[in-house]
Amino acid sequence: DRQPIIAIDGPAGAGKSTVARQVATKLGLVYLDTGAMYRAVTWLVLQQGIAIDDDCAIAELANKCKIELTPSQDLQSPVRVWINDTDVTQDIRTIEVTSQVSAIAAQAAVREALVKQQQRWGKRGGLVAEGRDIGTHVFPDAEVKIFLTASVSERARRRQQDFQKQGQPEVSLEQLEKDIAERDWKDSTRKVSPLQKAADAVELHTDGLSISDVASQIVDYYQQRL
Ligand code: C5P
Repeated sequence: DRQPIIAIDGPAGAGKSTVARQVATKLGLVYLDTGAMYRAVTWLVLQQGIAIDDDCAIAELANKCKIELTPSQDLQSPVRVWINDTDVTQDIRTIEVTSQVSAIAAQAAVREALVKQQQRWGKRGGLVAEGRDIGTHVFPDAEVKIFLTASVSERARRRQQDFQKQGQPEVSLEQLEKDIAERDWKDSTRKVSPLQKAADAVELHTDGLSISDVASQIVDYYQQRL
């Protein structure tokens, strides 16, 4: 018998992480950022100098690596991300990792390894899991499924603000829009578990809504459903 699961999927920059974190805090559930796991594997691939198209080496690495997500007091990054005992919380948010992660996340063996881990963590439920394939593949029986979207321009603006807050180098809105559109395309056209709204997911378009508006809407919906 497991506790409820809230699945939040959607494209890059739709506000998933902040929303998922707030929902988890309000409901006393554990927050699971699956994108951080794909980012951590990508960081390790780059760090080891493995070619992005070396599927075999990457599959082996994904199966052998140890990923840990630990809570922290840091408001900027409330979850610390570790791979093979290295803290990569900051390093997985760089432009280099962001530009390569979709290619790595498209590899079937990588997805298999990470999804298995996510399902192990989610066995007893009680979590808000966020990603691209949570409602469709990782937890298809989740009690609540949300598909968060926003326009490309709104998402680029949010990403720019995130970068500013993290003290990262300034990137133009134009460049961010281009990067986001490209990642949307890669994530939704890949063969394995593409980004897709689950048939039973509720779609929330978040342009012009504040994070806390969106979080309360999800909490209300969750309470109605249970
Ligand atoms: O959510 P975030 O932007 O951190 O995700 C980074 C990338 O990881 C996505 O662009 C996507 O390629 C991949 N991803 C995925 N499946 C998930 C979560 C993330 O393919 N469940």
